[in-house]
Order: sequence, then structure tokens, then C-alpha cells
Amino acid sequence: MKITFKGYKDEDVYSKGAGAVVVPVFEGKVFPGYTPPPMLQFFTQMLEREENFKGKSGQTVTLRDPDGQKIILLGVGKVEELDEKAVRKLAAPLYKTLTAEGVKEVVIDTPSVTNSSNNNSLAANLADALQTGTYEFKKYKTSGDKDAPVKLEGIEILARDPKQAAKIYEPLCKVTESVFWASDIANEPGNVINPKTYANKLAAELPSMGIKVHVLEKEDMERLGMGAALAVGQGSATPPRMVVMEYDGTGGKQPQPLAIVGKALTFDSGGISLKPGQGMDEMTMDKAGSIAVVGTMRALAAREAKVHVVAIVGMAENMPDANAQRPGDIVKAMNGKTIFVGNTDAEGRLVLADALTYIQRTYNPHTVVNLATLTGAALGATGVHIAPFYANDPDKDDEKPMRDKFNRASKATGEMLWPMPLMETPEFTAAVKKTPFADLSNIAPSSKAGSCTAAAFLHEFIDKDEKGVDKCNFVHIDMAGPGCDTENVRKGWGVRLLNQLVINNYEEKPARKIREHKLETAKM
Ligand code: BES
Ligand code: ZN
Ligand code: ZN
Repeated sequence: MKITFKGYKDEDVYSKGAGAVVVPVFEGKVFPGYTPPPMLQFFTQMLEREENFKGKSGQTVTLRDPDGQKIILLGVGKVEELDEKAVRKLAAPLYKTLTAEGVKEVVIDTPSVTNSSNNNSLAANLADALQTGTYEFKKYKTSGDKDAPVKLEGIEILARDPKQAAKIYEPLCKVTESVFWASDIANEPGNVINPKTYANKLAAELPSMGIKVHVLEKEDMERLGMGAALAVGQGSATPPRMVVMEYDGTGGKQPQPLAIVGKALTFDSGGISLKPGQGMDEMTMDKAGSIAVVGTMRALAAREAKVHVVAIVGMAENMPDANAQRPGDIVKAMNGKTIFVGNTDAEGRLVLADALTYIQRTYNPHTVVNLATLTGAALGATGVHIAPFYANDPDKDDEKPMRDKFNRASKATGEMLWPMPLMETPEFTAAVKKTPFADLSNIAPSSKAGSCTAAAFLHEFIDKDEKGVDKCNFVHIDMAGPGCDTENVRKGWGVRLLNQLVINNYEEKPARKIREHKLETAKM
């Protein structure tokens, strides 16, 4: 879809639309101050008849102006509540109306609540959110859909300073492109994306963007002593791999990087502890944690973020086979800990154990963020839209720095998280240590709180200092719910969240001018 930004040159800008013109209306049927007077009069008269249209956020009403031009009035909610986040929420209902009206080309006027700079940012965000809503994965549909609605092809967005709006849009667009790129991998089935093809794709496509990619092959993993990760992939015809990535946009100014770690089970059958047939096909999404990771790396590189980030994704296919690991096997992880494999379906934590050790020992990161579709229990806890997350913040109510950082990024992006206990609950650590045969067990004796015990297991792979204190900040997101979208189209959940986390906390920012807020509205 083509997006262009245009300025307000003359008063009849509203009548020059192609398929339709979208005009914002605040709640209470208030128009932005610069709505051309003749049009304002016309809209006002028309709206008098529209009792149901109140200008609430996302409400639309379609009119025809005297020249026959289709005008869509778009409710944008209360003036004082309109910000970038609120404007992004308008995209879905607007997109729905435009599609229902069969509009191919549209001119969209941007609401303005403060100064021109703010108007430009709202325009950019609306454009980006509309673009985001166009994602689909139709690669394997060989015959076109006859009943498919007319597709929106071009958007012209009116902004006070179109150059400025385009400048704000550029990094947003690069993030969205990366979300799409990552989503395309996420939606590929297990017979197309396996540890080999996935690793090859990353090695082929990311270096040109300024990301160093290093693939650890099975032999490298053996040399490194990654016994836990290797065991998971030993029943598959495609051996496991680890893909390590590094992006440094600081020119060496951040010697300690941020590290992001992702689970990339290209298919999880459960292994010898085979999953039931129903729903097993969904386990092509068991790579969603890694999708968030690789999408974030691409997004940061594409928008040339001034930050140093390293990443690792642990790739394997969990299959039942004569060579597959058995329930009851004991494996040795890279950090020397032995693990009793009580259930071969609790494979993600085995892969991640070695990924975590590798990234800490190679890069000495200040913070490690782990993302994984780790447990069905996470779905039971917070459902499909919210991901439980765990942080090794101190066990004090008023001191939760990592939790706060993630909550903030979550609020800003709408990728929802919910905090869960880690440091407060030594009983979960005790549970994963309860085995007479090894240091750890990959399942806890009780089937309760499965997401919490999985987090406690991963926490065992965060290196400690001489006092037994974690050497780095650690956050784990169990994204089994949102990793697999309700409509079964994976949309790269987590990329925007991590990108926002970096913007808020780790990126070097240029000094910004703070402008005064000014209200610009006209009451009808
Ligand atoms: N990949 C699954 C978790 C999962 C389940 C993700 C449903 C998304 C939807 C994971 O590898 C798994 O099977 N976990 C087991 C762990 C159990 C055996 C301790 C689970 O959650 O049942
Ligand atoms: Zn599993
Ligand atoms: Zn899994």
C-alpha cells in the first residue's frame, strides 16, 4: 500500500479526494479548527441528522458532498485524550469502513490537538497503524479469493508539515516492515521452515542490514557442550542450530549489550511424550519467541537505532524417533548442570538453557530478555492476548525496575504483559530441583503453576557472582498466548514491545526541543 503525506494548500482540499476523503470529528461533533468554512457548514448540517454519530473514537459515517465526493467522517474521541496511541486505535475501524465502502484511494485529514509538530506525529502514526492492519499471509492460496473485498491501494495523509510527518513515519515504517518480515517467517509451516532453512534465511538476509550473524552448527554445539539443546533436536532429520546475532549502532559506546533470547522450535510434536493430535498443527508457532527476537534485531538495524544488542535463537525440531530423547534421560547443559528429562514435551527450557549460557558467557550483557512460547499454563493464566512475564527484580514491592520498564513498553505498544512472581517464590525453584537423579528436572512434581516453574527453571541458567547473586538483569516472557494469534495468523508479537523497550531505556537519544501545547478546535 502506497502512503504519501500532503500539506493543506488550499481550502477545497476536501473535494479533491480520489475514492473518499476522511474527515476527523472530535467527540461532541467538534471539527478541527482548520476545516474549510464552506465544508464545515455542510458537515455540520449533515451531522445534525446523524443522531447516532457522536464522534466517539472509531465511529464513522459516510456522506456525499454536493459534488458527489464520498466523505467519511471519522470519530476521533475526546480532544484531551487524543495522542499517538489513541490515533493508532482508529486504524482498524477506519480500515473496516474503507474496505466496506470499496475505497481504493483515500485522502485522510489528520486531527490536530496541539501544535503542528503533534499533528505530524499523529499523521505518521495513523499511516503506520493503517499499514500494519494490511498484513496477511496468502502465499499458499493458489486461486484468488473471488469474494475478497476491494483492497485499499493508496493513502494520502494531510499533515501540517508533510515533510516532518514523513520523517516521523520513516522509523515507524521500518519497524512495521520488520514486523511483516518476521511474521512471514512465523507463518511458514514446519515443512518449509526448519532449523536449517531458518538459520540460512537469517544468515542470508540480516548481514546486509548491518547485523552480524553467526550460526552454531550441531558440531559447534557439541564442542560447546550444549547437551540440553542437542537432546531436543536429536529425533529430527534436521539437526538443531543456534543463531547468534549482534547489532551495534553505538560505534562501541555500549560495551555491555542488551541480550535477547528466543525459542525457535520450528515444530514441537512433544517428542516421545507426544502431544495429542488435536491442535498439534499449531506447534509450527513454537518459534514465535524467536520471531520477536529476529524481528526486533531487523527493526533496530533498519532504523539505525543507537544501541548495542546481541541475540540468540535456539532452533530445533522436537520429533519422536528412534534417535529421539526418552523421558527419563539425563542430559548435561553447557553450564555444567545436569537435567532429568521428565517429559520430552518440556523441550523449550532445554534449548533455552544453553542459549542463555552462551549469550551470557560470550557477551557479558547487562540484561537478558528471554521470549518463548514456553507453557500451555501461560495460556491458562492470562489467555491469548496477555503474556505473563517474570523479572529478577528485588523481592521488594517498591523496587521493581525491570518490571516497570516492561510494563511501560507494554502500555505504549498495546502488546500486553502481566507480571508474575520469580524472586518472591523460592518454592518454584525447589520444585524444579526435586529429582533424585540430576541437578534439575525439566518438569515440576505438581502440574500447578507450570509457567512459574518453567521461569524458575530458566532462572537457574542465569550466571551468579561469588555471592550467589544474578550477574545480570533477567526477564522472561512466556508468550504462548499472544505468540499464536486468535485468528491463527501470527503477527510478530513482541517486536514492537522490544523496540519500545529499547527506545525508552537503552537507546542514545538526540536532545529534543519541548514545545508548548496549544489547543486548536472549532465548535460547531
Ligand atoms: N510449546 C509448548 C507450549 C505451548 C502449548 C505453547 C500450547 C502454545 C500453546 C511447550 O513446549 C510444551 O509443550 N510445554 C508443556 C510443558 C509440560 C510438559 C511441563 C506444556 O505446557 O504442557
Ligand atoms: Zn513442548
Ligand atoms: Zn514447545
